[in-house]
Amino acid sequence: MTPRKIIIDTDPGQDDAVAILLALASPEDLDVLGITCVAGNVPLTLTARNARIICELADKPGVPVYAGCDRPLGRALVTAEHVHGKTGLDGPELPEPKMPLQDQHAVDFIVETLRREDAGTVTLCPLGPLTNIATAFQRAPDIVERVQEIVLMGGAYFEVGNITPAAEFNIYVDPEAADIVLKSGASIVVMPLDVTHKALVTAPRNAAFRALGTPVGIAVAQMTEFFERFDKEKYGSAGAPLHDPCVTAYLLAPELFSGRRVNVEVETHSELTMGMTVADWWGVTDRPANALFIGDLDADGFFALLTDRLGRL
Ligand code: BDR
Ligand code: CA
Repeated sequence: MTPRKIIIDTDPGQDDAVAILLALASPEDLDVLGITCVAGNVPLTLTARNARIICELADKPGVPVYAGCDRPLGRALVTAEHVHGKTGLDGPELPEPKMPLQDQHAVDFIVETLRREDAGTVTLCPLGPLTNIATAFQRAPDIVERVQEIVLMGGAYFEVGNITPAAEFNIYVDPEAADIVLKSGASIVVMPLDVTHKALVTAPRNAAFRALGTPVGIAVAQMTEFFERFDKEKYGSAGAPLHDPCVTAYLLAPELFSGRRVNVEVETHSELTMGMTVADWWGVTDRPANALFIGDLDADGFFALLTDRLGRL
């Protein structure tokens, strides 16, 4: 089978890093056409740096990495150093990247790639605020129907918010962008906190990463150890939630996940609930379904897949 073509749009972030590593470890399944960076967890210069550090850690310096939007569509950037550390990738000691950043803007790359490749053959994998994707859709509306699928990490419903009482970080940072994407008509799969908070790196799972004994396994163990303190303190959870790797794991093994096709809309006006994703889980409105909203996963299957694949790098 030919590998599925994907563009990873990201703001690394330790969990973004693991998502990227899982994709790069799976070339028989996923063809990473490019990694497009956006401002989110940390400012753009750092996310563009971190994405290249991860490609080099995976020994894949040929993967093109692009810098995109350095701020949300219409508001000031909110970052999350309190979760991910000053660099966004705190934890392991990793060398500064040698591979170049591409000259082309990430949004131009997304537009050009979707126009060049056969319609319906490129999947977008947003792991951060949706600014790059929304900008591409606004600038080139013709590309929307050429997208095979968008599998994104963002939002929350039953699990409510992690950056405000109502909103999840990726959506909160750029709610207008999320609104554009969710209303675009593209086929969308959403990985909200409802599922990602079930993908917890418990102590034995962390030990399994470390036991790989490879630079990748050890770095992943150190990264997840670094950012677990935030969730442990906040939620009393057993370890770091691997939000973004749910996206790449879904592409590799969708049978590990379950959810419902529902209507999902984003609050863009109320200051109180700004960025909240309102999912009509119980079907109480006539609003048409626009996304597969994931609610559960087979966590043991997920970690078995992840650890096995990381061991290939
Ligand atoms: C999301 O926000 C970021 O901090 C993580 O990388 C993830 O994409 C979780 O709310
Ligand atoms: Ca992210």
